[in-house]
Amino acid sequence: MEHLDILISEEEIKKRVKELAKEITKNYKGKDLCLICVLKGAIMFMVDLAKEIDLLLEMDFMAVSSYGNEKTSSGVVKIIKDLDEPIEGKHVLIVEDIIDSGRTLSYLVKILKDRKPASIRICTLLDKPEKRLTDVKVDYVGFTIEDKFVLGYGLDYMQKYRNIPYIAVMKDEDN
Ligand code: IMP
Ligand code: MG
Repeated sequence: MEHLDILISEEEIKKRVKELAKEITKNYKGKDLCLICVLKGAIMFMVDLAKEIDLLLEMDFMAVSSYGNEKTSSGVVKIIKDLDEPIEGKHVLIVEDIIDSGRTLSYLVKILKDRKPASIRICTLLDKPEKRLTDVKVDYVGFTIEDKFVLGYGLDYMQKYRNIPYIAVMKDEDN
């Protein structure tokens, strides 16, 4: 799309997803893994990652609100859709699209820990550490990026652009 600048290409994403999946496969060998997708942003990443992981795994989905339709954090996190299955005794890997302030993830980890999983780790495609407000520990990071508003490959701006196969920034935008 001509009003977008590519930040991370489709090829770069594919390559990095394979590397992450390899690491995850190695680290969870012999264990039952449950991938938890944080909807909707992490959907593309989760699907591509899951296909590259060579383990028997479960996939479950959760939706929380954090930003509404704006580009800045509201600070309000609310569960919109909960997991379908219990996670007690399971090795849980939360799959996120992007971590910014860290509020969404801190909240998620807190409520999921109460359900007594065997372990809980975080895998994010993108990390924007500059505006971090919480000390959430991220175990797997695809790419660390500058504090810019990005879209594509699951990430939206006003619910659009999720279907773009690369990560982009808007041209002439005051990010
Ligand atoms: P946090 O709670 O501030 O860490 O925000 C995390 C959530 O905000 C992510 O799961 C995204 O849904 C959304 N978000 C943060 N930065 C961006 C961005 O640059 N583009 C699109 N969505 C974003
Ligand atoms: Mg998200």
